[in-house]
Amino acid sequence: MRRVVCPGSFDPITNGHLDIIARSARLYDEVVVAVLINIEKSSLFTVDERIEILEAVTKDYANVKVRKFHGLLVDFCRERGVRIVVKGLRAVSDFEYELQMAQMNARIGDVETLFMSTSPVYSFLSSSLVKEVARLGGDVTDFVPPIVAERLRERLIESGR
Ligand code: PNS
Repeated sequence: MRRVVCPGSFDPITNGHLDIIARSARLYDEVVVAVLINIEKSSLFTVDERIEILEAVTKDYANVKVRKFHGLLVDFCRERGVRIVVKGLRAVSDFEYELQMAQMNARIGDVETLFMSTSPVYSFLSSSLVKEVARLGGDVTDFVPPIVAERLRERLIESGR
């Protein structure tokens, strides 16, 4: 069984992330979407909210699972017997840090990182920019799945923006 992990913060998932997950699901038998529990970084959505959203938007992909993890990504991979991590690369600016992480993960965990080029229609997208546009009253419906646009609206209204 060929399995891969697609890790990230997904706060929240964008159409760019979903494109990488969907393309991975066509290439591999199973895709584990791994959501980082990061208590040091403040997030808009809790890990459980992010998982619920990810499960909703990947429900049509029978071979995609969503799990949370803390600590090292390589430990999460080892516990599940997965040796391949798939990451989306948007631009050269992503490359330096991603390469460093890939090389560290290969060294400490014997995990290979495969980079998938982001579709050009999503290359400018990031969770933080989507949050900023939404917070400032912009329309994000082209950039995120409908459930995310809805949750962003609710969360920003709750927090008084
Ligand atoms: O969506 P993000 O925030 O760019 O995802 C980054 C993520 C979660 C893939 C990365 O921070 C990660 O793997 N964190 C787990 C901790 C870890 O393994 N650190 C060592 C990296 S070499």
